[in-house]
Amino acid sequence: MTTEHTTDLTGEVVDSLERTADPRLRELLTALTRHLHDFVRETEPTMEEWERAIGFLTATGQMCTDTRQEFILLSDVLGVSMLVETINGHREPGATESTVLGPFHMTESPVRALGANIDLMGAGEPCVVSGRVLAPDGTPLPGAVLDVWQADPEGFYDVQRPDVQPAGNGRGLFTADADGHFWFRSCVPSPYPIPTDGPVGELLKATDRHPYRPAHIHFIASADGHAPVTTHIFVAGSRYLDSDAVFAVKESLVQDFAKTDDPSLAREFGVPNPFRYARFDLVLEPV
Ligand code: BEZ
Ligand code: FE
Repeated sequence: MTTEHTTDLTGEVVDSLERTADPRLRELLTALTRHLHDFVRETEPTMEEWERAIGFLTATGQMCTDTRQEFILLSDVLGVSMLVETINGHREPGATESTVLGPFHMTESPVRALGANIDLMGAGEPCVVSGRVLAPDGTPLPGAVLDVWQADPEGFYDVQRPDVQPAGNGRGLFTADADGHFWFRSCVPSPYPIPTDGPVGELLKATDRHPYRPAHIHFIASADGHAPVTTHIFVAGSRYLDSDAVFAVKESLVQDFAKTDDPSLAREFGVPNPFRYARFDLVLEPV
């Protein structure tokens, strides 16, 4: 087929979308068609390569279950999740930056009281995480809700190993107090590999990429009248901060988990002394 013919074909497919009632859907499908056709014209895949690509996408879908989202993982390792997040997450200066949701926010976090320990297995190095939820002008946001989730010290989320961890381990839904303060106990998170036993793992292997994410805790913070933010805090000094498998590190989200030797503070928080202490504020912009 000559270039002219392939261009005609692209035009025909684009024309076939003309009666799409939803204008945004039409825009998206038209651009998708153009870019996909350009990709095929540029790379000229063989039939075997095309079949392999279809097989890869089929296997990606077949890997998905209630507790495993291989398509999100694929979007993550290709940097698409971070691109979408960054395009949508432009915030006013001072507001907390967003980062990827990831595939493990797939279960409801248990409601917990401020100060509760989300490390139900007591498996790791104890830490306290505290701060305030604020508007950009510094006004506290009382009653702000924080959904928190993290992997265990071995690098697994509760949903990945239901036979080993109780449901809700590493998770909590907290409500900030009247001054916008929040605090909870946990263990210092560790770097961990994203799941590699599926098609995304094959892709990483074929491209000689490591699967690791730097140590982090996930948050979704929300408050009335403010835009919710989906973000993480990353542990300062963690391995892989400069080579996150899903490209999700932003400098402003790296926080010190300071070694703290303060027996009376440790008593107040109910943790053994010394402990690690991360303090930071989450700033939500008004809508
Ligand atoms: C996570 O941090 O939970 C995550 C994010 C992207 C891919 C895999 C895991
Ligand atoms: Fe994570």
